[in-house]
Amino acid sequence: MKLSVSARAAAAAGMATAMLLTGGAVADAASSAPSRAAAAPDIPLASVKAHLSQLQSIATANGGNRAHGRAGYKASLDYIKARLDAAGYTTTVQQFTASGRTGYNLIADWPGGDANQVVMAGSHLDSVASGPGINDNGSGSSAVLETALAVSRAQYRPTKHLRFAWWGAEELGLVGSRYYVNRLATGDRSRISAYLNFDMIGSPNPGYFVYDDDPAIEKTFKDYFTGIGVPTEIETEGDGRSDHAPFKSAGVPVGGLFTGASRAKTAAQAAKWGGTAGQAFDRCYHSSCDTTANINDTALNRNSDALAYAVWELSE
Ligand code: TRP
Ligand code: ZN
Repeated sequence: MKLSVSARAAAAAGMATAMLLTGGAVADAASSAPSRAAAAPDIPLASVKAHLSQLQSIATANGGNRAHGRAGYKASLDYIKARLDAAGYTTTVQQFTASGRTGYNLIADWPGGDANQVVMAGSHLDSVASGPGINDNGSGSSAVLETALAVSRAQYRPTKHLRFAWWGAEELGLVGSRYYVNRLATGDRSRISAYLNFDMIGSPNPGYFVYDDDPAIEKTFKDYFTGIGVPTEIETEGDGRSDHAPFKSAGVPVGGLFTGASRAKTAAQAAKWGGTAGQAFDRCYHSSCDTTANINDTALNRNSDALAYAVWELSE
């Protein structure tokens, strides 16, 4: 869905408050804002959902899951890699072993930018064995993919170097992301300016949670949501439960978005976000019903756009 150009410019200039106060004078406020080198694009929801449909088909064709060590995982990785290769990325498949089975991370580098300032966005691509893993974490995987493709479409040439990642074996305990971080040379760890994590961003009864980690990253996400008038809360459903944790432990600034897992939405949260109080953010968490039906389109759309906004803002 499209956020109007004026609203986006106002948000980017931190003028959301002015926009609210001036009502009809939005265009004037926007036109007086400093012009940006490159505005983040709107990420088409239909494209993100098309990736989710592909991941669902892959699960269905492979025993109902895309879990580590199963055929559905490698097929998921091959799908994403092919799209990135066609878009001009330099892709690397990093192989590891976990629980006696081969796992894979997929890393995609966008050519150019300062190699001493790397901005990364990542998501785990594996599901649990008990279901297709469409919200957890086809949602993050598809939004990161579509953002990477948007970088290519825009031929975005930021100051910093962009790298996208899809992790294997997160559901076995952050195995893939930990493997990647452990194998980075000390110097390369310190060259990562930011790691942005996206794990479950389309929960059917969504909350809008921003990781409370690096202040500049957190502010970037919050600015986006302020600009579209959506309140956020700090993520508290298990810090360290996703792939940002190994990066954080290594001293890399991290941040991310999350729409909630098995915890129940409170009455106060339902009042501000809509949805159903007393019900889990995702009733199909780690279940066979985590299918394409288990996605809130509005949440997926907003978080995909916020992801692209942060990638653009933090890399320019
Ligand atoms: N994949 C995560 C897990 O299974 C989902 C999750 C739970 C999560 N709590 C989180 C992701 C907090 C990010 C932040 O544990
Ligand atoms: Zn999970």
